[in-house]
Amino acid sequence: MQTTLNLVVNRLASYHDNTMKAYQITGTEGLATLHQVTLADPTPKPGEVLVKLRACCLNYRDYMNVMGIRGVTGPIPRIPCSDGAGEIVALGDGVKEWQVGQRVVIPFMPTWLDGGFTQEHASQALGGAVDGLLRELACLPSTSLLPIPEHLSFEKAATLPCAAVTAWNALFVRGDLQPGETVLILGTGGVSIFALQFAKQAGARVLATTSSDAKAARLLELGADAVHNYKTDPAWDKWALEQTGGVGVDKVIEIGGPETLNHSIKATRFGGHISLIGVLTGTAGDVQTVGILRKGIRLDGIYVGSRAMFAEMLENMCASKMHPVIDSTFVFDQAADAFRRIESGQHFGKIVIRVG
Ligand SMILES: NC(=O)c1ccc[n+]([C@@H]2O[C@H](COP(=O)([O-])OP(=O)(O)OC[C@H]3O[C@@H](n4cnc5c(N)ncnc54)[C@H](OP(=O)(O)O)[C@@H]3O)[C@@H](O)[C@H]2O)c1
Repeated sequence: MQTTLNLVVNRLASYHDNTMKAYQITGTEGLATLHQVTLADPTPKPGEVLVKLRACCLNYRDYMNVMGIRGVTGPIPRIPCSDGAGEIVALGDGVKEWQVGQRVVIPFMPTWLDGGFTQEHASQALGGAVDGLLRELACLPSTSLLPIPEHLSFEKAATLPCAAVTAWNALFVRGDLQPGETVLILGTGGVSIFALQFAKQAGARVLATTSSDAKAARLLELGADAVHNYKTDPAWDKWALEQTGGVGVDKVIEIGGPETLNHSIKATRFGGHISLIGVLTGTAGDVQTVGILRKGIRLDGIYVGSRAMFAEMLENMCASKMHPVIDSTFVFDQAADAFRRIESGQHFGKIVIRVG
């Protein structure tokens, strides 16, 4: 007991002088209101573990929050970013299932362990309703964490909590993807690239769109069966119909929102499934509701997923040794540049910030 305690104290002492570095959003005017600050080290309460973050990862949502595009759903200042992976450095009272030194990844909504989605789960979304993980240390409920697969680095594990779990939920939980089905993915962001990788592993055919011919080549390298440039030819719904002999695709990973949804409806087969995930073109607009009902399409709102879905996905990734696609990695002090990278739209896959 004494040895464990000493180990914990020593590890903490080696990292810190009771303060940690963090970023806070202090307003809604964009990157100028993202500040690096020094905060007191958090102390784990009973049932919590203290995690030393080693990597964080950006999602478009984090960019929107920092830019004040949607506004953070909680009091300011707010620590941004939902996605992180790190190492356990201390245990709160009563925590038996973890040990100091274990490598862990943190789910997007730490209280959504399993079962149906509730408002209470949404109210705990990291980096939105509550403080996120762009900081050196964080206390999390011990029940929420998951061990990082051996084949993944902290950086790669940090890419998973939001984008990968969303793609997994869309394809396999809500979508019930079957081998041989056709999946349409839009663009080359985090969610879409994970959906491509998972769908190909599951024996599906993947049609992909992008605004860039260079990215089209990379999509093909990753296994996409056909790629269409939606900038040079915006009629990608017609293209998807042609690719499926006029029938339409089985599943769409819909990350665009109001300006893409009507195209996705046209591209989907009768009885097909659309996972409504993204807001890249806004949060409201005209929807051709008749297309949904006439074709009997299932339109499913997806909000990331539970810890149980995350665990199932990790099991699959351990078996397949799948590696996430990282676009770029930034050091902690250059976090603002990471947000500029996502703003540029030039990324392909995930943008990581190394912590510590
Ligand atoms: N509901 C959820 O649980 C959930 C979870 C994760 C993400 N999201 C949402 O899903 C969206 C994507 O998130 P992300 O983190 O994957 O974003 P991201 O990594 O920033 O990806 C953005 C990419 O989407 C493509 N894109 C942009 N506008 C497009 C358009 N009009 N049509 C087709 N593709 C377009 C672009 O790819 P190209 O450069 O190849 O054109 C762009 O690089 C965001 O709105 C995000 O908020 C929702």
